[in-house]
Amino acid sequence: MKLYASPLQGFTEAPWRNIHQMIFGGVDAYYTPFVRVEKGEFRNKDLRDIAPENNEVSHLIPQLIASTPAEMEKLLGLFIEKGYQEIDINMGCPFPLLTGRHKGSGILPYPSEVRALLDELAHYPDQKFSVKMRLGWEYFDEWKAILPMLNELPLSRVTLHPRIGRQQYKGMVNMKEFAVFYEECRHPLVYNGDLLTVDDIRRIEEGFPRLEGVMLGRGLLSNPALAMDYKRGEITPQAELYGKVKEFHGQLYRHYESYLQGEAQLLSKVKPYWEYLLPDMEKKQKKAILKSTRVEKYLAAVRAALL
Ligand SMILES: Cc1cc2nc3c(=O)[nH]c(=O)nc-3n(C[C@H](O)[C@H](O)[C@H](O)COP(=O)(O)O)c2cc1C
Repeated sequence: MKLYASPLQGFTEAPWRNIHQMIFGGVDAYYTPFVRVEKGEFRNKDLRDIAPENNEVSHLIPQLIASTPAEMEKLLGLFIEKGYQEIDINMGCPFPLLTGRHKGSGILPYPSEVRALLDELAHYPDQKFSVKMRLGWEYFDEWKAILPMLNELPLSRVTLHPRIGRQQYKGMVNMKEFAVFYEECRHPLVYNGDLLTVDDIRRIEEGFPRLEGVMLGRGLLSNPALAMDYKRGEITPQAELYGKVKEFHGQLYRHYESYLQGEAQLLSKVKPYWEYLLPDMEKKQKKAILKSTRVEKYLAAVRAALL
């Protein structure tokens, strides 16, 4: 099975992706967090994140979020200008600010709007497109009005996170509904949601043998060796894992140190990784990292934790 690295706003940006591939790897393609149009413009941080000169991974798929054909056209123009031939469309984001504007999973209750958006793709016959989606926004069966439209298009893959938008990231994934989707989807299908261990990945693979792959999000943030371990068929011993995380963190930290101004900015960028990283770490050590308000204390806490 193929392993895809999830887009995670604020986390899996270019520096994380580049360093992850170099130190851990095991990922077949990395997705960028979604790029969007805000008041008619692109955000500078998004432009930086997709700029080819900032990206070193061997396979990168940029993602867009849009609710109108005009936004879609603007975003596709950007990706094509930057030389991308494969583009992912976000129909899964659950953030109310976006779903309220029928973006992400907020578009799923409106099949005619999905149709208008997807009609735009016909103007780009040389591009490959994929869709990342949830089961619905409010109801678990909203996908039933959407999938027939997707099935008609030449998509390269559909990734399904079997929650609804209203659940955000909580509650259970709905495997019963996923199984129905799996039967009805004519495209290569990728499962996404709550895969934290190699055993979790294997269970999905056994249950759904025709899957093209799985997408790893928070599981890969927590254990950056997860994809590599699945591919190698062996679990990285803890001491080795901690050593690699030390290297990974060091490189990420040095990157942001060279580029962000001031302690507060730097800490607000690097500390959130620890909300996910190495969940088995001793609680006291994790707390010391997350509570630190000075760089010196932060680095000492990280050093102590990764000894
Ligand atoms: C902080 C955060 C940011 C996310 N950003 C994006 C995004 O930009 N695009 C997207 O398609 N999904 C985004 N997601 C959803 C993840 O890609 C993924 O679908 C979800 O976390 C479920 O997979 P997981 O359980 O393996 O993490 C985000 C999730 C989180 C927690």
